[in-house]
Amino acid sequence: MNDRELVARAAEFRSRAYAPYSGFAVGAALLARSGKIYGGVNVENASYSVGICAERAAIAAAVTAGEREFEALAVIADSPAPCAPCGMCRQVLVEFPIARVILANTAGDLRVLTPAELLPHAFGAAALP
Ligand code: THU
Repeated sequence: MNDRELVARAAEFRSRAYAPYSGFAVGAALLARSGKIYGGVNVENASYSVGICAERAAIAAAVTAGEREFEALAVIADSPAPCAPCGMCRQVLVEFPIARVILANTAGDLRVLTPAELLPHAFGAAALP
């Protein structure tokens, strides 16, 4: 599965986003080391802060299925530049091994980053007593 194919899967998932408040639909596709793909979309709520981002929804779906190691995550939205994960999602992403994160927009622009590039000097389990 190449990066553009994974972005295409993220775009398919995006059609199921529930974003009535922001109007900003996001889709994510997470490729596990097993080869399986897990989808996520943003799921907003009338109590705005309760909403969840597409990236965290994808990770939750994959972990629920028993996955802990990942190859790539693609995220796509209709944004001027490739859609950048929010800070909270970056922290969730660095919890699990993942080789690369592919940011995309519906215009076809891609940007590929490592988790360390997305969140340098991240807080992690090594800091805990
Ligand atoms: N959102 C995501 O799902 N992922 C991102 O990478 C950026 C933001 C969602 C949260 C909210 O539902 C909407 O996009 C606008 O912020």
